Amino acid sequence: MHDRRAFLKLTVSGLVLGLARAQGPSFPEPKVLRSQGGLLSLKLPAAPTPLPLAGRRATLLTYGGSLPGPTLRVRPKDTVRLTLENRLSEPTNLHWHGLPIPPKVDDPFLEIPPGESWTYEFTVPEGLAGTFWYHPHLHGRVASQLFAGLFGALVVESPLDTIPELREAEEHLLILKDLALQGGGPAPHTPMDWRNGKEGDLVLVNGALRPTLLAQKATLRLRLLNASNARYYRLALQDHPFYLIAGDGGFLEEPLEVPELLLAPGERAEVLVRLRKEGRFLLQALPYDRGTMGMEGMGTMNMGGMTHAMPQGSSRPETLLYLIAPKNPRPLPLPKALSPFPTLPAPVATRRLVLTEDMMAARFFINGQAFDPRRVDLKGKAQTVEVWEVENRGDMDHPFHLHVHPFQVLSVGGRPFPYRAWKDVVNIKAGEVARLLVPLREKGRTVFHCHIVEHEDRGMMGVLEVG
Ligand code: C2O
Ligand code: CU
Ligand code: CU
Repeated sequence: MHDRRAFLKLTVSGLVLGLARAQGPSFPEPKVLRSQGGLLSLKLPAAPTPLPLAGRRATLLTYGGSLPGPTLRVRPKDTVRLTLENRLSEPTNLHWHGLPIPPKVDDPFLEIPPGESWTYEFTVPEGLAGTFWYHPHLHGRVASQLFAGLFGALVVESPLDTIPELREAEEHLLILKDLALQGGGPAPHTPMDWRNGKEGDLVLVNGALRPTLLAQKATLRLRLLNASNARYYRLALQDHPFYLIAGDGGFLEEPLEVPELLLAPGERAEVLVRLRKEGRFLLQALPYDRGTMGMEGMGTMNMGGMTHAMPQGSSRPETLLYLIAPKNPRPLPLPKALSPFPTLPAPVATRRLVLTEDMMAARFFINGQAFDPRRVDLKGKAQTVEVWEVENRGDMDHPFHLHVHPFQVLSVGGRPFPYRAWKDVVNIKAGEVARLLVPLREKGRTVFHCHIVEHEDRGMMGVLEVG
């Protein structure tokens, strides 16, 4: 009996393997490190790492030897103690993207020289839930270090995860990150990349090219993270809508059915997928025009070496993943309610931030100025709420991001935002204004910037001081 079962299992996994082989690699999940007894303590080396990648070999930069780096899974009130070991040949640091923690811990001004280590220690805030991430944040080096492979996710679990409609779902993390290789390593930035932001021809999910995900259950809970430098993902799953349940940093009030979902760089979302029939369905990134500059746009701009292609995200659909539904799928009912969003106190100030571009020089500005770490651009008071109006006066989309202080998006381009949930990135199209309600939480100096990291490295960042 036992043998027979083992044999059956073997045959099934053989079949599964065959199937997966026919359709590319099977879906890999990044390694998970969980907190134990309220503590997650780890050493995380950042180092050059030879890896197999999309059927080739390449030396990338990784956290902990893998691409993506390990997923840190924690709960509110846990302590995280992470020692970053810089084994790169250049300085770096680490940013806790989306976490409302003190800026003296999450310090983008910190520089960790090669060969040295730094320990980050903080408490996961109470009431926090969602999909966050970590990546380097040393101004001027973010684009090359992120592009080369330095990123990983941090998941904060919630009591809401245990409601049957979520607990019974099959959960997966999908980190979307594109890459281009050249000479066995990450392709270097071209002059055009510093304008448009760098995209790569390998559009990877958890480091794999077009993997196959064999769903065991009919309801999937997908945590989506756009860890790409500049690529936008207009996500659509063949024959199925998404049920959006969480934005960047927390749950919606109730699931929101959407036919497709745009994820700008830095953004996260959680969706439920309800598989209704057997078969194989493509998860795709549909064409999206973010207003990048092509060859024509160069006009009289005189620069050498303009032979590379323009960003591809705008021109054709890109298959990210094959999803195989189980037999006779019977999806779970949707959760009726998720997390009520608090009513924030009345704002005490209104700020105006204007984003502009100098395409000729490949420089980017906020309120006419390029980033200067010694200058404070905005001063606010802890425990007060402000309205931020961020205007994009450039020619391309800019995903605006603020550290430490997650916000509510009121409207973008005059259209009311479709849901209430904590966000920390908002995409703003050329000519549009985003209105944000920003509760200032932690005291200290932090930054806001465009999350097309080339734009951030080339000046589109400012300093906020909260006292
Ligand atoms: Cu994910 Cu300041 O960045
Ligand atoms: Cu951030
Ligand atoms: Cu930008």
